[in-house]
This record gives sequence, C-alpha cells and structure tokens, in this order.
Amino acid sequence: MNSILFTLIATIINFGHCKIYVTRNSPPQNWQKDTIPSDSDTIQFYIACKHDQESVEWLEKLFWKKSDPLNSEEYQQWLSYNEVQRLVKPKKHSHDKILKWLLKFIPQNHIIDYKDSFKIKTEVHYAVKLFESKTKFSYYRLKQRPGIKIIRLDGDCHVKESIFEHIDMITGLDEFPRDIPIRVVPTAGLSTQLDIVVPQFITKYYHIPNVTCQGLPKPVSQAVIEFLGEFYLETDLQLYCNLTSTPYKALKPEHIIGSNNFTNFTLDFFETALDMDIMIGLNPLADLWYFNTDPYDNRWLYIFTMIANHMKVLPEVMSISYGNPENTNCVGEVDCDSFNQSSHLEEIFIKRVNIEFMKLGLRGVSIVVSSGDDGVYGYNNTDCKSTTFIPQYPASSPYVTTLGATYLKNQQYQQLQNAPPICINNPLGRCVSGGDEVAVSYENDHFTSGGGFSNLQSMPSYQKHVVEEYLYEQKCQLPSSSMFNRTGRAYPDLSALGNFALVVANGSLGLVGGTSMSSPLFGACVSILNSYSKQLTNGRTLGFLNPLLYLMYEKESTKIFKDITEGNNRCTTQTCTADCKGFYASEGWDPVTGLGTPNIREMLKFIKALNSTRIDNEKY
Ligand SMILES: *[C@@H]1O[C@H](CO)[C@@H](O)[C@H](O)[C@H]1NC(C)=O
Ligand SMILES: *[C@@H]1O[C@H](CO)[C@@H](O)[C@H](O)[C@H]1NC(C)=O
Ligand SMILES: *[C@@H]1O[C@H](CO)[C@@H](O)[C@H](O)[C@H]1NC(C)=O
Ligand SMILES: *[C@@H]1O[C@H](CO)[C@@H](O)[C@H](O)[C@H]1NC(C)=O
Ligand SMILES: *[C@@H]1O[C@H](CO)[C@@H](O)[C@H](O)[C@H]1NC(C)=O
Ligand SMILES: *[C@@H]1O[C@H](CO)[C@@H](O)[C@H](O)[C@H]1NC(C)=O
Ligand SMILES: *[C@@H]1O[C@H](CO)[C@@H](O)[C@H](O)[C@H]1NC(C)=O
Ligand SMILES: *[C@@H]1O[C@H](CO)[C@@H](O)[C@H](O)[C@H]1NC(C)=O
Ligand SMILES: *[C@@H]1O[C@H](CO)[C@@H](O)[C@H](O)[C@H]1NC(C)=O
Repeated sequence: MNSILFTLIATIINFGHCKIYVTRNSPPQNWQKDTIPSDSDTIQFYIACKHDQESVEWLEKLFWKKSDPLNSEEYQQWLSYNEVQRLVKPKKHSHDKILKWLLKFIPQNHIIDYKDSFKIKTEVHYAVKLFESKTKFSYYRLKQRPGIKIIRLDGDCHVKESIFEHIDMITGLDEFPRDIPIRVVPTAGLSTQLDIVVPQFITKYYHIPNVTCQGLPKPVSQAVIEFLGEFYLETDLQLYCNLTSTPYKALKPEHIIGSNNFTNFTLDFFETALDMDIMIGLNPLADLWYFNTDPYDNRWLYIFTMIANHMKVLPEVMSISYGNPENTNCVGEVDCDSFNQSSHLEEIFIKRVNIEFMKLGLRGVSIVVSSGDDGVYGYNNTDCKSTTFIPQYPASSPYVTTLGATYLKNQQYQQLQNAPPICINNPLGRCVSGGDEVAVSYENDHFTSGGGFSNLQSMPSYQKHVVEEYLYEQKCQLPSSSMFNRTGRAYPDLSALGNFALVVANGSLGLVGGTSMSSPLFGACVSILNSYSKQLTNGRTLGFLNPLLYLMYEKESTKIFKDITEGNNRCTTQTCTADCKGFYASEGWDPVTGLGTPNIREMLKFIKALNSTRIDNEKY
C-alpha cells in the first residue's frame, strides 16, 4: 500500500462578484518557485461539472440492481460504453455554461469535452485570460532534482461566481507530484533463512485452478493500476516467470495506458513489480493491462477513473494498491484543487470518484483495493496519537472490494508439487508450503492491516447484517465509540496473504509484503472466476463483487471462507504502544480480515450453482 503525502492548507475569501480561492499558503517545501512561464508554454487541467442529481441516483440504482446476484433479471446485464455515457448527465445548463466560458477564451481544439467534465490542454496566456487575468502561474522546480520543473498556480485562482456554481472540481493547477521515496514494507528478514511465497504455494493454499495446466475456458483481462510514475521492465517479468515456471506473455502495447519509462520522477518500482508478478504468477494467461500516470501530469483517482471511463475497451479486473487518509484526499492532494474550499471538500472528491467507480462497475469491471498498511490510523497518524481512527480511501469506498492481509504462522517447508527453480537449492531462503493464517502484525510483519469504518460513506446494505453482528458480539472489546463511526462503510471485505512475495524489480530479487500483495492476489483469482462466469453466461463478467461475496458468506460461510480469528489492527508500520487502539479479529466478519480468506474452488462451485438456480427460477 503506497500513500501520497502532501497536505496544503486552504481557506476561502469572498470578494465581490468574483470569489478568491486561496488554494494554499505555499507550495510544499521541496518545491521552489522558479521562472515565470512564457505565454506559449503548455498547461493542462481538468474541470468537473456539477452533476444532475437525478441522473446520479438513477446510476446508483442501476449499479445495485445489476450487481445483485438475487436479481435474476438484471444481474450481470452490464451496460455498453455508450449507455454509460448517456446515463450520467451534468446539471442542467452546467455543461453548456462552462463550455461557453471556455470557448470565450480558449481555442476549441485545446478542449476535450467528456460531457460531465473537460480536459483543457492549452497555452499559459489563454489560461490566464480564462481565470480573470488575475491568476498567475509560475514554474516550480524540485529542490533535490533541478531537472524537474512544472507549471502551477502562483497565488490565488479566480473564477466568476456565475461559472463557479456549475463546477465541482478543477484539478491540475495546484497539485505537486510527490517526491518522497515510497515505503516498501520490509519483509521480516532477520532469520538467516527467508520465507519465500511462490504462485505454486498460493494456488494450492487457496484452491485456485492452475490455469497453465487447465487453460482458461474464455479469454479474460486484468490490470494493475499505478500512480506516481512507476515503471516496469520486461526483463524483470521474464526473469520472474523463469524463476517461478510461469509462462511469459508480453503486454500488448495498447494495454499500456500512460507512460512506462524511467523518468526523473521514478522513485519506486517495487509496487508495480509486486502487483504484476502476483497477477501473472496466478493467472499468466489473462491479458495483463498496465495503467500508469504520466508523472508530470500528476493524476490521482478522479483523473484515473475518468480516463478509464472514456475508454471503449476496459480490463475486466483492476487492482489498486494506493490510498490516502479519507480526511485529506482532497485538500492540497494530487488531483483535487476543487475551488469549493469548504469543509466538504473531501466529500465532493469522494462522491465524484465513487460515481466513476459505479460507472466502471456498470460496465462489468471488478475493482479490488488494498486496505492499507497502518491499521486503523492510516499512514499519516502512525504514532497512534490521533483520538479518532482515520479510514483510508479508496479502501473505504462501498463500491470496491477491499482486501486486508494475513501471514502464516507454523510455516511448513515441504517440497512443493511442481516446485519452481527459485525453490530448489536456494541459498536465500525456503519456499513456504503451508501454515496457519492469522492477521498480519507489527511484530511479525512490520505493518498492520488497514480496516475500520468510513466517516463519509454510509454502510451499504450488503454488509449490514455481518457488521452489526460483529458490533454486537464484540461490544465489550470494541474501542471507544468516539473513535469510529459504527454506521459507516466497514472494511476490509475479505483478506489474503500479504507477506514474503517473491518479486523481481530492476533485476534484483526481493521478498515484499503489504496489503499491496493481497489485492492483486485476489484480483487474479477474480479474473480466473470471470473466465468461468463468461463461459456460463455467454460472456458476462462478475463485475462489482461485494453483493456476491456477502451472499456466498451468508449461504456457505465455512466452505467458501476461512475465518481468520487471530490478530488485530491496533498498530501501524511505525509503532505499537499501549496508546494504540484498534479492532480484534473474531469469529465471523471483522474489520481486520473481513469475511476471511477465499477458497476459489468453492467460489467457482457457488457461481455455477447460482447460475443453474437462476434457470430454475425462470422456469417457474
Ligand atoms: C498529517 O495530518 C496532520 C494533521 O491533520 C497535518 O498537519 C500533516 O500535515 C499531515 N501530514 C502529512 C504528511 O500528510
Ligand atoms: C532528468 O534530469 C536531468 C537534469 O537533472 C535532465 O538532464 C534529464 O533530461 C532528465 N531526464 C528525464 C528522463 O526526464
Ligand atoms: C460548496 O460545497 C458545499 C457542500 O457541497 C455546498 O453546500 C456549497 O453550496 C458549495 N459552494 C458553492 C459556492 O458551490
Ligand atoms: C501449474 O501446472 C504446471 C504444469 O503442471 C506447473 O509447471 C506449474 O508450476 C503450475 N503452476 C502453479 C502456479 O501451480
Ligand atoms: C528466461 O529463460 C529463457 C529460456 O531459458 C532465457 O532465454 C531467458 O534469457 C531468460 N530470461 C531472463 C530474463 O532470465
Ligand atoms: C515515456 O513514455 C511516454 C508514453 O509511453 C512517451 O510518450 C514518452 O515519449 C516517453 N518519454 C521518454 C523520455 O522516453
Ligand atoms: C458517521 O457516518 C454517517 C454516514 O456516513 C455520517 O452521516 C455521520 O456524519 C458520521 N459521523 C461522524 C461523527 O463522522
Ligand atoms: C537499476 O539497476 C541498474 C543496474 O543495476 C542501476 O544502475 C540503476 O541505478 C537502477 N535503477 C534504479 C532507479 O535504482
Ligand atoms: C447460466 O444462466 C443463463 C441465464 O441466466 C443461461 O442462459 C445459461 O445457459 C446458464 N449456463 C449454464 C451453463 O447453466
């Protein structure tokens, strides 16, 4: 789980007909103001129009209907690109007012009209005119690496109130790319012999069909979603495949979205390597997609989902191992210098991204997200001093499937069936062949699986029953009720192994952990399940998974899920003192490991049985 670490302070001053939005006091300290851009330099930003509320309500209604496995009429009847485009409308006049305003100052061919948003790539002098001629821009350069310069606002940004009232957010003017190295959770590698987790073990442990041997009934696709200018090397993927006896298949160029090259912004490539290696190791036959942001464009979730929603062809499963504290997603963060600097800024951002998640869901895409590595506190409160827990977004979104992490105790190291080369006479360590799953812990894994309750998004009905049961059963062990919101969306939904993954990055071998491993692990399982679903239903993917997962739990809890009852999420990656409060794993769903870890063979049986029940229902 990587996280992004900027916070800027924002206030709003009302000034006559024109609002002045003081978007920040100063740029982050590692960025220094440089020269003034010339008139013809290029600047790029996005404007999101306000939505028509009724169309958003309709979208949500359809989203729930089509992902409800008990709704035999509409389940899995996904919409086409065009149908989704038509579904969500901007507020009456908003789109036209904004477009008219843009065209008054900016050449038409500098504007891309996405219907409920606009992308503007234009020259500085046009942007200055658009923003009332009072708005100034400057180059900023990264202190540590003077080669990097970007154009951002210098001071306030000015928009007429009559236009402003039609805008949800403007993004791209004020955010700075992060430049701090990403924390890769170190594997607890203090023993002389390291544990190594290879695909052969994972498939056996979770009863995942070996697709190399059995094939896939229908072709499927899966994607890793990366931010922060990461990159991957084909030779790394090849070496990983060689070491793990996995068939190698290069990504198709049209499945690489955004940039994949080493730039001065590249500071980490372990996240990408982990995500790709895990997905390829478990489902090497799927078409793998790689989304990465142009580091100079500095996108975050809104831009990513918005761009994805404007693609005619999409990968069927997306795995996201990034997140931000729910209460700072917007303010000064990448992607979100909304001009409405009210205290509702995060809410606007989260609402907007959730709409984009629903649009993806309606096209049959499954989104899996890691729950975070700092327990209930999140990465910005790792000292456990916060008096309330800080949920992480998008982990806390009701419209995605969130994965917590487990590790193995009582590990076994028997010879694996089909032991790959990395497991044979390896001086580095031993391949794990078995053990008992418990929630990851600070002591063993140096991180804590994220979980808890959203403060901004209410609890969806699919989980109400199991969460209320947990709250009731745990009454006496719960942290103080002032620390969390028991009516909020509770996460994670389920969990999977989160440590000791073999990874190849920039030619080096590593053993990497984190909820970052759990998310692509389950994502690859979903793409295998999708293949069978497509066979059964003439091409329908599983789409948004949670109503199905909670139904599986209701009907076949012990068969399909292994209940994880040991561990807690009271610590972080940094501390584990008596100050640290949190939740404890328990029987049934809990905010540490969710419903438990999956048995994919049993999930597949359930999906097949569900399909035949539906036929029976139709007969009567
Ligand atoms: C963490 O949160 C505190 C208080 O909300 C804020 O002042 C600080 O800048 C944040 N730090 C980071 C790295 O986001
Ligand atoms: C990286 O920065 C250096 C200057 O420090 C510059 O010469 C070089 O072109 C930059 N490389 C890339 C790939 O951006
Ligand atoms: C700012 O956002 C809040 C909350 O959504 C809303 O009530 C308020 O009207 C917005 N202000 C403007 C000027 O749009
Ligand atoms: C799948 O089966 C093949 C052929 O038996 C074997 O070489 C490979 O190691 C297996 N892969 C996994 C992930 O179990
Ligand atoms: C992988 O194995 C093949 C066949 O043995 C070999 O040609 C290739 O160089 C290997 N690639 C890497 C990156 O190790
Ligand atoms: C980096 O990748 C992008 C997209 O793949 C490409 O447009 C750009 O030219 C590349 N930059 C360099 C320096 O290779
Ligand atoms: C708890 O969550 C609900 C639903 O999202 C929200 O209405 C309420 O304001 C939240 N309370 C607190 C204290 O965050
Ligand atoms: C990748 O590996 C090469 C060769 O070992 C090394 O020179 C380079 O610095 C590494 N790149 C990064 C970004 O660490
Ligand atoms: C699955 O259900 C669909 C109807 O929802 C039906 O058309 C199809 O034949 C079923 N497939 C199998 C293999 O039973």
